[in-house]
Formats: sequence, structure tokens, C-alpha cells
Amino acid sequence: MNARPDNAASSILLSQYRPPAWRVESVELEFDLGIDRTEVLSRLTLRRDPSQQAPLRLDGEELELLSIALDGKALATSAYRYADGVLEVEGVTDGSVLETRVALDPANNTALEGLYLSGTREAGFLLTQCEAEGFRHIAFFPDRPDVLASYTVTLRADRTRFPVLLAGGNPDGSGDTGDGRHWARFVDPHPKPSYLFALVAGQLEKIERDYITADGRPVKLVIWAEGDAIDRCHYAMDALERSMRWDEQAYGRNYDLDVFHVVATHDFNMGAMENKGLNIFNAKYLLADPDTATDDEYRAVEAVVAHEYFHNWSGNRVTCRDWFQLSLKEGLTVFREQQFSADMNSPALKRIEDVSLLRRAQFPEDAGPLAHPVRPAQYQEINNFYTATVYEKGSELVRMVAGKLGREGFRRGMDLYFERNDGRAATLEDFLGALGEANAVDLMPYLAWYGQAGTPRIKASGQYDDAKRCYTLRLTQRTAPTPGQAEKAALPIPIKLALFDADGGMLPLHLGDAEDGATERVIVLDRAEQSLVFAQVDAEPVPSLLRGFSAPTILEFDYSPQQLALLLRHDADGFNRWEAGQQLAAQAYDALRDGSRTQAVQAWCDALAALFADGDIDDALLADLLTPPSEIELAEREQEVDPVRIHDTRRALQGVLAEHIGAEALAVRYRTLMTQAGDGLDAASQAGRRLKQCVLELWERVDSASAQAAAAMQCAQARTMTDRLAALALLVHSESAEATTALAQFRTRHGNDPLAMDKWFAVQAMVPGEGALARVKGLAADPAFTLKNPNRVRALLGGWARSNLSGFHRADGAGYRYLADRLRELDALNPQVAARLATVFNGWRRLEQGRREQARAAIASLASESTLSRNLGEIVRSMLGD
Ligand code: BES
Ligand code: ZN
Repeated sequence: MNARPDNAASSILLSQYRPPAWRVESVELEFDLGIDRTEVLSRLTLRRDPSQQAPLRLDGEELELLSIALDGKALATSAYRYADGVLEVEGVTDGSVLETRVALDPANNTALEGLYLSGTREAGFLLTQCEAEGFRHIAFFPDRPDVLASYTVTLRADRTRFPVLLAGGNPDGSGDTGDGRHWARFVDPHPKPSYLFALVAGQLEKIERDYITADGRPVKLVIWAEGDAIDRCHYAMDALERSMRWDEQAYGRNYDLDVFHVVATHDFNMGAMENKGLNIFNAKYLLADPDTATDDEYRAVEAVVAHEYFHNWSGNRVTCRDWFQLSLKEGLTVFREQQFSADMNSPALKRIEDVSLLRRAQFPEDAGPLAHPVRPAQYQEINNFYTATVYEKGSELVRMVAGKLGREGFRRGMDLYFERNDGRAATLEDFLGALGEANAVDLMPYLAWYGQAGTPRIKASGQYDDAKRCYTLRLTQRTAPTPGQAEKAALPIPIKLALFDADGGMLPLHLGDAEDGATERVIVLDRAEQSLVFAQVDAEPVPSLLRGFSAPTILEFDYSPQQLALLLRHDADGFNRWEAGQQLAAQAYDALRDGSRTQAVQAWCDALAALFADGDIDDALLADLLTPPSEIELAEREQEVDPVRIHDTRRALQGVLAEHIGAEALAVRYRTLMTQAGDGLDAASQAGRRLKQCVLELWERVDSASAQAAAAMQCAQARTMTDRLAALALLVHSESAEATTALAQFRTRHGNDPLAMDKWFAVQAMVPGEGALARVKGLAADPAFTLKNPNRVRALLGGWARSNLSGFHRADGAGYRYLADRLRELDALNPQVAARLATVFNGWRRLEQGRREQARAAIASLASESTLSRNLGEIVRSMLGD
């Protein structure tokens, strides 16, 4: 056994990147699969870089080396060394073949990285997870993304226990080995990095579909799941087909193997994985039927299926040179998925959803101790950098560039990017270079966005000059220092804008240039300060800025409540319309908290009541408008965070709105929606369910008895999980007398379904207030709870610590101490999941003093632990600022 000392704090630096001294031309792998012991034979054909002298060094973690031979001859123990995760071999020459045989223990692999067992010993199956550095847990290899090799993989296993054998690539024969075992071989014609390797073996059922690509290739699409889940894969199959067609039409990208396999597992660290030809999915993002999946989960299934499929080009055919370039595949693929989902559903709603996520997950990250650039300069543990910054901010950076090039220009640039880099491991410079060259524009100024952490803050102010009939918009940008980056440069910030007159009409914009007279413009703020003078303006206008959220920034403009109400009523940009409502809600929130600007409360309530009464507005958009900014977003606006006060104030704000609309109007609307809304997955039915939930919650604030009675009924009779869970949540969160029965009934109905039981845990973890900790402790003792299953951990501990601020942030710090204890236990089982969960402490420095001290102590107690994994160790040390 040789493992790297886990809490070593050495960093990998982008500036130290060197091309590999040794490449692997081809690799043959042979697996003799078993749950307690799997043996892996690997045969590497090696190529030396003539300009480098280094000996062959292969990565390998916790591998039991059984044999090693070079060019057919067993190696003497003096000819190689295996220590600290590296196998060094002497005497290797260009073209040498190195053969190693190792043994693995999948059943005891609780980290779910490398080869592991999903489910029980009796009925579970074996699978792999290799991104980012999991392949080194399977075989000795230069486990880095710039080593691309062709794979031939042979699997052998007991036929009864493992009837299905899968690996990436095209099938290349199968048969019996005689002794009750069988074999199957797969050849992947496309050279790939080791992180895209995958295999699956076990008892699985399938659904299939024949697909023909636009360029004429017949492809067999196969989705695999355990027997009780296979009937819930049809929606994912449809989503896969839609994704494949979309990538053909939008980007001219065709699939490139004869088969495409997708497998669902309940034991997965992440959401899903794009292994070449063999995608593996967390069941949460693949299985869906109306009785067990909510509308939000249906949308997520479509989005994740699309995301992983899109990686086949943005990630697999063109991969990353090194892990610093992670956003090259992830940011780009998130962007492509966002475009796809916008095309499949409502573009405005999708934009609202994505920007909300950015603000809830990425802005806090960028404002705290874990802030890092989209392309980090260093890391200790790469798994800690699959972050909202790399993904969501990364996608926003692609969006800015795409916006600059326009639809056709972006497509032209992407075509060149794919053509030039196909089969290569590329960098962000390659990406911006190709996009720019195809359009004869210099995009390199945008590279600065990739290297600078922190969210730029734009301050805008307007001044109207009666005499000159002109309106001057003054814009400034500033980015606060982040850890390790004190000085910040001005970035190119595209600001899409329009001006509205008092009647809600858009004004022609006169800036005295070529685009003169257009009603919408994009200007680029690329200095610390800039002014724009609009001519021929008859009266003070209301600016609509950063339309469509044209850059990942925080924009401040001192709007009056009336101005926001005007935009909320008239802005044709669906996103900015919602945004005006959010800002008005934030003003109303401040007013309730401090007793200032009380007219904001009135203006917000009046505007929303009018929209509520208006029959024209889309139900889903109305639901979004009726929802004030989340507690996390509200916390971002405060100097000192008191989570309980934020929760109470936000709740009071909803109460005021509910009063204003009135119990009667809410009851009527609820009943109408109850009778009118269908059970289908069409947009109107989904929107109806979303609004219904929102109305039910408001109704509960003004007439809790009636609303709770309605919820109890809805929970018992619901025909969709969306309706059942919404009603259950209302009963549980309002601590209704009906909650206990409803929870018991839910468990009786769904007790055997892990995904539904995750919701059962999460709903209870999210009851706000003092009682949450005791409830979480009780649930952690439930026989259905286990730290070994990441979905269950995220449902209970993640739901509580991440989404239930008033429940987690107790003034006495007991919540922090409890979480730290669970993190210690979890870290010993699954470092990746532990490290991710620990990021809930990210905002600790901005907590009010009492909580800040308690949180610091809890984090410090973790950091002082000598046995922490490198994953959790890096997170807690960074959070403390070490
Ligand atoms: N490549 C990732 C999966 C991954 C991430 C593997 C980190 C290993 C370590 C995959 O393409 C991905 O991005 N998955 C996301 C979901 C996606 C829809 C944003 C995930 O797993 O969260
Ligand atoms: Zn991805």
C-alpha cells in the first residue's frame, strides 16, 4: 500500500505546467472483476518526448502491485520504485510496453472514486468514477488530461452475478470463458484522457432506442438501471434524443460511436459523468416519473442529460490540457446546456433560474475565503475546484463572448475551435483565440476575467439635463480584494441597456455613432469609470441596465420604488422585468428591517397585487415575481449577517404581501389552480403547479388553518410528486398538526424509493428555527440514514446547513459543532463529499460576532485534526485564511 500523506499541503501551480515526458499511445486493460477483489492487467505502449530526460513516472494510488514487466520481461525490484502515489520505472525506451497487474478491493471503496460497488453486496453492481484523478486508483498511468490514448478494454466476470459488462467505446466481441464466467471487449477508436475511462458490471435492465445522426451514423442509445428503476428512464431517453438533435442543429456536432450507454446509480459523488460512450448518472438526474420526480427534477434531468451529452464535443473530442483549464469544458458545457434548455423551455424563466443560482452559489463563493478565479492559479486538491465559479461564472464568461460575436459569429468561432482542437488537449487561450480569429476580433482582453477572482461591482448614476435635453449615465467598476489578489484590474464589462420614458416606452438611443437610434444597445465598460451622454431625451428616463444579465456583476443604481415599479410593469426584457421586482422586494425588505423608505413596501405590494390580478402574466413568471430574493441573496447585501433576523424579516415581508393580496383572493386563486391545472408535463401545467405552491404558502401566512387543511388534502390526493411534496413541505414547515401523519404516509408510500426518501429527509431538515438541530440529530439516527450515501448526506446535512440558515446558524454554535463532528466521520469515508459539505462555512467571516466566533472555533477544531483528507484539509485551511 502506498498512499500520499493525505494532509500534505503542497500546491500544484499553473505556472509550472510542463508537457508530459512520456505519452501513452495505446492501452490494453483486462479486468477480472469481483466485488472483494478485482485484478487489473494493464499494457501501456509508451512514447518518449525526445526533448525531455525524465524517467517514466506513473500515478497509482492504493494499488497492490502483483507483477510488473517491461517489454515482456519481469522487472527486478531494483528496476522500479512505488512510493507516495508514484511508480518510477527504469530502462524504459521509446516504444516500450509496460505491463502491470494490480489488485483492487471495490467493496471497501467508500470514497466512490476509482472502481467501487453501488448498492448491496448481493444485488449491487460495480462501476468506476475517474474524473478528475480516479484512474490512478485502477491502474498505473500518467493520470493527467493531456495524455490521450486509445483504449482496448476486456472485462471478465461471473456470468450470473455480472450478466451485463460495459466499457466505453464500440463493442468488439464477447463470449464465455467456460468456468461460469464470461467476457466482453470494447475498443474506443477516439484517443482519450484517462479521466474519461469507465466500466460497469452487474445486473442491470435496459431500454434502447435507434438513432441516426445528421451525418448518417446509426447509433444504439441504451439506458441502464436496476430493475425497479428502468421504467423511470423514458424521460431521460427522450431528453437524450433532443440533446443529440439540438447539438447537430445548433453546433453541427454529431455523435461519433456506434453505441451510447447511460447508467444510473444511487451512489455517486456528483451529478453525472461524461465518460466516453458510457455516461454514468446519479439516479437523481436520470430517473423521472410523475409519482416520484418533481417538475424541477424533470427539468434537471433534461439539463444534466444534455450537459453530459454535450461534453462529447466540449470536453471529450476537445479536452483540457490540465485541470486549471477545467472551465474550458465545464463553463462552455454549462453554457451550451443553458442555450439548449432555453430553446426547449422558456428562455426568460431559464435565465432567471440560472442567474438566481449564480447569485446563491457563486457570488457568495466569490465574496468569501474560498474565492478563486475561473482559471485558478493553484490548487492542492483538484476535486475542490469543481465550483460554482468554474461552472456558473465560467458559463457567464462564455455568454459575454458569445454576445459580443453574435449568433453567427459565435458559431463560426466554435466551428474553428472544434476543427483546430479536435483530438487535442486545449487551453482557454486556444478557445478565445479560435473564437477571435474566426471573427477577426481580439478577445484576449476577456482573458482577464478568467484570471481575476471576485465579483465586479458597478455603480451607475444618471443625471438629466433639462436645458440640453440630454441624459448622462456615469458608470464605475470596482472589484474588492480576494485572498491572494489584492489589486484588481478593470475588466471589459458588456452592459446591455435601454431607457424608458414615463409611460413605459423605450426611447431611441442617441450616442452619436453608427447604431444611433436603436432602442437597445450594448456598451462595454472597460475602464474604472466611464460616462455616456444620451442626446434628444425629453424628460428624465428610467434606465434598464445589464439587460438579460449581460455580465456577472453586481449593479447598483439608486432607483426609486416608482422607477422599479415602472420597469416591473413595462420592461420587455423578461429577465430585467423580474430583476426590477427583485430589487423592489429588496428595498421593501430593507424598509421592514429598518423602518426606512416605507413607500417601498407599498410600491412592491401594489405592483405585485396588480400583477396577481392581471390575467395576462404567465403563471410561472408570476410565481418567480411573488418570491422575494432568497435568504442567501439577502445575506449577501448585509455587512454583518444575522441569519435568524434575515429569516424573520423575509418571512414578515411575505406576510405583508399576503395581507395585501388578501386571504380571500389567495383562497380563490388556489382553488382555481387546483381545479384548472393539469397533471401533465407541459409548460402550462408545470407553471400552474408552481404558482399554486406559491399561492398556498402566501395563503398560509394569512389564514393558516384553511391553508393547512387544503395542504393536507392536496398531500393525500396529489397525483404528482410536485403537488405532494409542495403540500408536505407546507405542513412540515408551518409545523401543522397534520405534518406527522403526512410524513408517515409519505414514508409508507415511498419508503423503498431512495430518491423519494431523500426528499423526506430534506423537507424535515429544512424546518426553520431553533428546533432544527434536534430534528436533524433525530433524523441522523433513523435507520434509513447513512453517511455512506452521498445523496442522503446532501439531503439531510446539506439541506439543513446550506438551505436552512436559521436552523443551522444557532447563536449558541451547537449547529456548527454538530456539523464539524459529522464532517470528521464523513471525511474518513468520503473526502470529496465531506469537503464539499464543509463549504457551508464559507460565509463565516461575515456572521455577526457571536456566531462568527463559534463558527471559527468549529472550523479551527477541524483544521487542527491530523488525519484530515487533503480534500477537507484544503477547504478548512483556506476558510481560516491559512
Ligand atoms: N465532469 C463532471 C462530473 C465530475 C465533476 C466528475 C467533478 C468528477 C469530479 C460533469 O460533467 C458535471 O459537470 N456534472 C455536474 C452536473 C452538471 C449538469 C453541471 C455535477 O456532477 O454536478
Ligand atoms: Zn460537466
